[in-house]
Amino acid sequence: MAEKVLVTGGLGYIGSHTVVELMAQGFEVVIIDNLSNTREDVLDRIAQITGQKPVYYNGDVCDANDLEKIFAEHSDITSVIHFAAYKAVGESVEKPLEYYRNNVGGMITLLGQMKKANIERIVFSSSCTVYGDTDRSPVDESSPIAQAASPYGNTKIICEDILRDESVASSLSVVSLRYFNPIGAHPSALIGELPLGVPNNLVPYITQTAAGIREQLTVFGEDYNTADGTCIRDYIHVVDLAKAHVMALQRFGKMDNRFEVFNLGTGNGNSVLEVVQTFENVSDTKLNYRIGPRRAGDVEQIWASTTKANDILGWKAESSLEEMLRTAWAWQQTL
Ligand code: WQD
Repeated sequence: MAEKVLVTGGLGYIGSHTVVELMAQGFEVVIIDNLSNTREDVLDRIAQITGQKPVYYNGDVCDANDLEKIFAEHSDITSVIHFAAYKAVGESVEKPLEYYRNNVGGMITLLGQMKKANIERIVFSSSCTVYGDTDRSPVDESSPIAQAASPYGNTKIICEDILRDESVASSLSVVSLRYFNPIGAHPSALIGELPLGVPNNLVPYITQTAAGIREQLTVFGEDYNTADGTCIRDYIHVVDLAKAHVMALQRFGKMDNRFEVFNLGTGNGNSVLEVVQTFENVSDTKLNYRIGPRRAGDVEQIWASTTKANDILGWKAESSLEEMLRTAWAWQQTL
């Protein structure tokens, strides 16, 4: 019998790619999404890729009734992958209460309903932001958790703390995945990132600039202590990331500890200018960009140690930066 999994935020950027990989591996998927940062037609696009439409509920993880109904109608759900959350760092500084209510409150509501339905397995969407401004790259999972630079980052730290405490107090098993910088899109160009308004993140800003939607990219700072002076990040293809969630589900039942965390990155760092140059190469375009001042709160350089995910999950990122940017550009051109 196929294993049934609830994917919260399953129509979002990382969620939709994960749903595709889960279905390809024979999982039965139920999605809950409130469409706060995506569109309903993502469901049809998932069906186009996989040949099958997943079950979808337009609902909210902050609403206990929505979750109760799903768990009652699908009593064979055995695990949950929890993506549904707000993710804009700058917005979280302006609206902290909304971020805590949605990201922390939503997860508490979800855990309460999971407990009532006897569901004891959860994969959580965490972030490398929990490490803060580390000077120890590659950063491994035992690195200290830093004081968060934004309410968004703090929601990830708090949610991990709640999950760890609950895994001690009950029989909940947790795999928390700390994503580095997810970019790119599905090779079919049917699903990808749908940024609302002006993008904050580098790659959607680059592709929108190349597409003529934005006038010019500003590179935030060229005076960092790095080879070319721009910040370094570990960019990871969203499809590689999605595959790691399937491996995370397979980890349940074999865990040494009921709370485990894994970094998901490539293990390589690239500078902003390297990303710009690689994009220019793969898209055969000249990008209009200028060097501007540093952006407040940016970490100088961070990339992942991926040893733990490689050894224990048996997962490794496969895609090159070229491939990530090629798919991001192909997706942008469909918009
Ligand atoms: C990458 C690099 C910028 C835009 C954030 C969150 C993190 C995670 C992913 C998400 C930096 C530079 C960017 C631009 C630029 N969370 N840049 N010009 O800041 O590493 O991580 O997103 O959901 O928690 O903090 O990603 O893509 O914003 O920036 O020069 O217009 O690109 O300074 O060095 P970041 P990013």
